[in-house]
Amino acid sequence: MCGIIGYNGKEDAIPIVIDGLKSLEYRGYDSSGIAYFWNEKIKVVKEKGRISELEKIIDKEDKPTLAIGHTRWATHGKPSRVNSHPHSVGKVTIVHNGIIENYASLKEDLISKGYKFLSETDTEVAAAMIDYLYKEEKNKLKVLEKLEEVLEGSYALLILFEDEEDMIYAIRKGSPLIVAKSEIGNLVASDIPAILDYTKDYYLLDEGEIAVVSKKDIKFYQEDKEIEKELLTFKFDAGSAKKEGFKHFMLKEIYEQPRVIKNYLDHYLNNMDLIPDLSLYEKIHIVACGSAYHAGLIGNYLFSEYGDIEASCYVASEYRYQKNFIDDKTLVILISQSGETADTIASLRLAKERGAKTLGIVNVVGSTIARESDQVIYINAGCEIAVATTKAYTLQVLTLSLCAYKLGITKGKIDNKLAKELKDAYYNLPLEIEEILKLDYKKYAVKIAKSKSAFFIGRLLDYCICEEGSLKLKEISYIHSETYPAGELKHGTISLIEKNTPVIAVITDPKIALKTISNIKETRARGAYTLILKTKDIEVSEDIYDDVIEIETLNDLVSSILTIVPLQMLAYHVADSLGYDIDKPRNLAKSVTVE
Ligand code: F6R
Repeated sequence: MCGIIGYNGKEDAIPIVIDGLKSLEYRGYDSSGIAYFWNEKIKVVKEKGRISELEKIIDKEDKPTLAIGHTRWATHGKPSRVNSHPHSVGKVTIVHNGIIENYASLKEDLISKGYKFLSETDTEVAAAMIDYLYKEEKNKLKVLEKLEEVLEGSYALLILFEDEEDMIYAIRKGSPLIVAKSEIGNLVASDIPAILDYTKDYYLLDEGEIAVVSKKDIKFYQEDKEIEKELLTFKFDAGSAKKEGFKHFMLKEIYEQPRVIKNYLDHYLNNMDLIPDLSLYEKIHIVACGSAYHAGLIGNYLFSEYGDIEASCYVASEYRYQKNFIDDKTLVILISQSGETADTIASLRLAKERGAKTLGIVNVVGSTIARESDQVIYINAGCEIAVATTKAYTLQVLTLSLCAYKLGITKGKIDNKLAKELKDAYYNLPLEIEEILKLDYKKYAVKIAKSKSAFFIGRLLDYCICEEGSLKLKEISYIHSETYPAGELKHGTISLIEKNTPVIAVITDPKIALKTISNIKETRARGAYTLILKTKDIEVSEDIYDDVIEIETLNDLVSSILTIVPLQMLAYHVADSLGYDIDKPRNLAKSVTVE
């Protein structure tokens, strides 16, 4: 969602902050803005639309050495210049990620105290509240500490005080912030890519901590006392946040899968002690959102099938409010690329409150879910920039697959011979994916691109993979797409199938292949364009499909990782043939930090 960057150093701050904002564009935004000290005053420039619109209206003569910037993804009030950040009230100027839940009552209170508001945002209320507290209590650290009592919800805030030209204050609750020293000066940002051009070392601000960033140094405070913090290092290539010649980040990230999977297997499959022992639990709940939820559906299937354990998978925004039968014999697995998804965090906290053990499967190191889970498995995907996840999803599935593999071995469901065969198959995955990436997907994509809607069908594991294939297609190509268990389509939805409606069917499981094939025939009889994605062992007669993509025949535990790749490629080429902004689909944000 929104992005934050602040710079305090010796260079011209404007290009540094603008570049930082561009590196955070992937998070999704609809307006941007910047604030800096100029002629002893704070100057705020902001605009609706792309960062290039903001660049056009910044005075080229201004050369400040301190600035804060923001990309906004609208929550309170429509995308507009007035609602964009930064917001200034009295002596205070702020940029904000997150949501102030009690802003309406605070606003009323502040209006009664004489404050006037220009925008519809919760952020302007937070700025006014800081200004008010600062008038009352002159000590800035005390004011910021008091904020925790006053503001409900989540926030990452950078704050400028008009009477202190050389300082950026930063505070967070719920939304992440990192702080970094570099040769050109000090930086504060909501996410790693914004600092990678200057340094790989950073401090992670924890809840309730305050960072005070001057040109010379960075000081951290907690409960009025200065504290020392551990310096962390971003372990991946700075290049992993660059396009490296690919037309889009999404394509680059799809092509990165063989490499990240190989690294992952070298790390985890070689050292299975790093994979938790799930046989210690009576049941498993998997909780996540979006694609991470789809990865969870696969884990759910594999746990039951190979681990013989009661497993269920839930959408986090439902899980946190529904009745859940969990206790200390339950393991709750939270899957999240960002580790900052609001509903997944809330589910994690609920699970802990009820006494369950928690396992986070997370990409972003040091994120909230990683820090608060009892155990964490890092998927080590590196930066994922495209809003539509690909490599992180695949590694989430691989992680769940390895958990099921270990569980199967521990419970005696996977014997030594099968265990060895599977191990070889896992190690062969990068090569299999490289082969699949060589296929020509454009010829199928142009057929699908002409349609208004598409359907994905499959049974059991194939259905779970269809869910992700369908989401990939709709989120970047804006073609309406639905997934159905293949046998379910005829109970109503088949009425939507007409001439040339794409039906994409996945068949990798021989025991239910014939059933799915019958369902494909039903759609073809109604004029559908049928594209079958199947394993080589499954035979289908030519008269039931228009096109077919074949992949290697592998055990479920391994094929569940491979099968998605053609669907990612298909979605990418459909969207590309339609000329869409693939890395930043409309209305979407990379990290969903609001409920
Ligand atoms: C879709 C996509 C989203 C995320 C979802 C959860 O391509 O990326 O559906 O999977 O928003 O995000 P994380 O994994 O960060 O919790």
